[in-house]
Amino acid sequence: MVGQLKARKAAGVILKMVQAGRIAGRAVLVAGPPSTGKTAIAMGLSQTLGSEVPFTAISGSEIFSLDISKTESLTQAFRKSIGIRIKEETEIIEGEVVEIQIDRSITGGHKQGKLTIKTTDMETIYELGNKMIEGLTKEKVLAGDVVSIDKASGKISKLGRSFTRARDYDAMGPETKFVQCPEGELQKRKEVVHTVSLHEIDVINSRQQGFLALFSGDTGEIQAEVRDQINTKVAEWKEEGKAEIVPGVLFIDEVHMLDIECFSFINRALEDEFAPIVMMATNRGLSKIRGTNYKAPHGLPMDLLDRSIIIHTAPYSADEINTILSIRATEEEAELAPDALALLTKIGQETSLRYASNLIAVSQQIAIKRRSSTIELTDVKRAYMLFLDSDRSVQYVEEFSSQYLDDNGVAFTEKMETD
Ligand SMILES: Nc1ncnc2c1ncn2[C@@H]1O[C@H](COP(=O)(O)OP(=O)(O)OP(=O)(O)O)[C@@H](O)[C@H]1O
Ligand SMILES: [Mg+2]
Repeated sequence: MVGQLKARKAAGVILKMVQAGRIAGRAVLVAGPPSTGKTAIAMGLSQTLGSEVPFTAISGSEIFSLDISKTESLTQAFRKSIGIRIKEETEIIEGEVVEIQIDRSITGGHKQGKLTIKTTDMETIYELGNKMIEGLTKEKVLAGDVVSIDKASGKISKLGRSFTRARDYDAMGPETKFVQCPEGELQKRKEVVHTVSLHEIDVINSRQQGFLALFSGDTGEIQAEVRDQINTKVAEWKEEGKAEIVPGVLFIDEVHMLDIECFSFINRALEDEFAPIVMMATNRGLSKIRGTNYKAPHGLPMDLLDRSIIIHTAPYSADEINTILSIRATEEEAELAPDALALLTKIGQETSLRYASNLIAVSQQIAIKRRSSTIELTDVKRAYMLFLDSDRSVQYVEEFSSQYLDDNGVAFTEKMETD
């Protein structure tokens, strides 16, 4: 990313706090003029957070278009943004394979076998069932491999080859990883950790849908009782040290599209025991709060605004626009002549960054049409003439309003006649 240093620094601070798990239940508002990189900053944040911290992005208007209620879809979005890190202890067998012996019965169906496995201190023989034999064959386990077997699931993983076998196997190729033969007991307890979201736990436990709903995304409404039970359970796990809460980030883009009911829901949800960090973005100044007749800064009720820390994005300078556009051109594999880039930058300054970057693709098509691989000044000029930016479009509509239809679908000229 280019420029927007203050906003990015602020986002960086928030990132640190999210990673430390410290500002759950806070709201952050990113406010600024259109195409100043608000959405881009949020997306950047989500990528830096990594896969361990949940990040959910929704758009304000989206929750009105679903067939579940507004509050249900907000609840789901909130719960998708809270991770539960569950710790589990499993028993594993870890050692170096001494011998695998498989007896095939004459009929071919049932297989039996024995696995001899050792550590530096002990050696044991295990009876093998059908499933284990399949697993060993699939992983191509040989004598001399160091393996780890999960006792509960029977899952086998190869850790590498034992150093003691290094000499006999010159032919194994350079990829072979050599490891020490494990010490001590063959059976060990190992802690495994996985992170799921509260929403995923909800879906799996709501009997109507079952976990398949996770794949179709069609989860419907989830009963409040189910959620209450899960909250209690998770709180218990937390007490017992089995689980850890990982507050993630819920990003609501175009937040001014929400109405007063949604805002009061968010206000309340932020006080919940399990609350993520809510990051909102808007390009509105003083505007009406949907569902009311009041005007408020950013179209947000004062109580929510009061809770939020606000980050401002400012319009880009010419240099920054220049850099962003040339990065964009490289990404689109378009080659820009210097004067073409200069004109695009000027257009970007006078209209918007988004319009200027849209012109890149269009100008490229025009350049291709005249069989040039480079976008020249004339291509950009032509693209500018063919496609209007919002200002010119507004001007055009005002000038020729008589030819357009009005809200009732009546053309201005027709109206003159009927009046
Ligand atoms: N600092 C930047 N570096 C690189 N590209 C940027 C930067 N800022 C914005 N862009 C690009 O500019 C375009 C507009 O940015 P973005 O969509 O984030 O604006 P926005 O502030 O969310 O606007 P709106 O209020 O209209 O939603 C995007 O294509 C984005 O990739
Ligand atoms: Mg945006």
